[in-house]
Amino acid sequence: MLLHTSPASPFGRKVAVVLHETGLWPKVERRDASLTPLAPDAAVCAANPLGKIPCLELDEGGVLYDSRVICEYLDGLHDGPKLFPESGPARFEALRLQALADGMLDTAVGLRYETFLRPEALRWSDWIVAQKAKITRALDRLESECAGFARRIDIGTLTVACTLGYLDFRFAADRWREGRPKLAAWYEEISERPSLVATRPS
Ligand code: BEZ
Repeated sequence: MLLHTSPASPFGRKVAVVLHETGLWPKVERRDASLTPLAPDAAVCAANPLGKIPCLELDEGGVLYDSRVICEYLDGLHDGPKLFPESGPARFEALRLQALADGMLDTAVGLRYETFLRPEALRWSDWIVAQKAKITRALDRLESECAGFARRIDIGTLTVACTLGYLDFRFAADRWREGRPKLAAWYEEISERPSLVATRPS
């Protein structure tokens, strides 16, 4: 399998974490693409018309995207503990947490492009404030829910860990830990997991 990704992409990190957790890295060739929404990568666009990473070209033909689809596909290829619970409330709780954390990442990546790519004269401060408020509300929700998911390792909790790692990487000045001691303590512990140590963005 060929994985198009990028070391700085938090969605690419999610897939890398799942590859570590499932022991499937040896089956995957990694290709790091250098791209932005304004400068797409030709090989990525050929695989995924949306031009987005991560995307996974399969040995038997066909391509998978986005990170959610890739992660669930990979989870079906190994015999270890499953990261996507098979059914019932546990499944939908893991998927909901993944959706919350992915939504935070979508927002954070949009903000990163807004401040890094968009010319200053075209920036819209009300939009930036509203996007940051979304992340703040989600962080507060994670703080209040943290005791309930603290002992779980699944696609939901791993995605939350990748999201907090991305906030540290790109938005350290916003200090997400302030006022959120339970989430901060949970993150300190889970971020020592080998899959998260090996994929820390730099
Ligand atoms: C970043 O540099 O923050 C980034 C890179 C690739 C995808 C998304 C974000």
